[in-house]
Amino acid sequence: MYSSTLYSRKNSECMILGISTDFVFSSFLVLQFCWFYPGSTLLCDVLDNVNMALVTKRKPWLGGNWKSNGTKVQVQKLVDQLNSFKFNIEKLDVVIFPTFIHLHLTSALTSQGYAIGTQSCSATKSGAYTGEISTEAIKDLEIGTTLIGHSERRQYYGETDDVVAKKLKIALENSLCAVVCIGETLQEREESKTTEVLHRQIDAIRDCPLSAQSVVIAYEPVWAIGSGKVATPEQAQEAHQTIRHYLKEKVSAEFAENVRIVYGGSVNAGNADCLIALEDVDGFLVGGASLKPEFGTIIQSVASAS
Ligand code: 13P
Repeated sequence: MYSSTLYSRKNSECMILGISTDFVFSSFLVLQFCWFYPGSTLLCDVLDNVNMALVTKRKPWLGGNWKSNGTKVQVQKLVDQLNSFKFNIEKLDVVIFPTFIHLHLTSALTSQGYAIGTQSCSATKSGAYTGEISTEAIKDLEIGTTLIGHSERRQYYGETDDVVAKKLKIALENSLCAVVCIGETLQEREESKTTEVLHRQIDAIRDCPLSAQSVVIAYEPVWAIGSGKVATPEQAQEAHQTIRHYLKEKVSAEFAENVRIVYGGSVNAGNADCLIALEDVDGFLVGGASLKPEFGTIIQSVASAS
């Protein structure tokens, strides 16, 4: 259903400062239209679209979620591996999410290209909340990003949409970047509730002060996580497009156009090229494969799509 449009955006370069051949051609058509139909409202739509095409160039984003894995020795090895990969930080954001207790070690050892993030954060401020890690404490460690609402937190630790919204709000108030994870379970997909679930999860956060600079949306179908079962390109594109359309309707066109929507769920070196080519896929949140040397190949796949 989507195959004819899957590659359209990435094949036709949209540049902020440069002028593409597509742009020259569309401008020519708009001018012709303007000449024949002055004052048409359709013209405004056409101009809007050309304008939108001009600003659309989302920087790819890649996350490595180490989940609850790693000893000091393993972290050292993983970081040595990361430091051997080369990529251009102007063209790709890569964020590594170690456990809380390995944050310091990871950030001390990784080379400058990598950002470090936390896998969760507290919904409460600093204070008498035993065992919680506040966003103030995260910020104080000079960690700039946090995951919020990962399905494993929702599934095993009772994080509801409401808790996710509270965490997002407090993270943004403390100037952290937040990667908000959403996605349906297998049962929800089989009952054709994917769109309903995605809409509900977006509704929960849409009143937060969302900006494309501080928020990344991770679409992680629960059935694809750690299962080796990756979403097909059609399923991934359809879900990402659903998310972007709904954000346009409920948040703003500007946010929807510029926010990075990344895919997570059994991404590996073998499927990364195909998924990153999709129109609305702006990167990945990788679990298992981020603990393996193939993460370097995934970095290259995402970097070469930019
Ligand atoms: P896997 O890549 O292991 O399926 O995990 C995905 C994930 O949960 C990333 O947050």
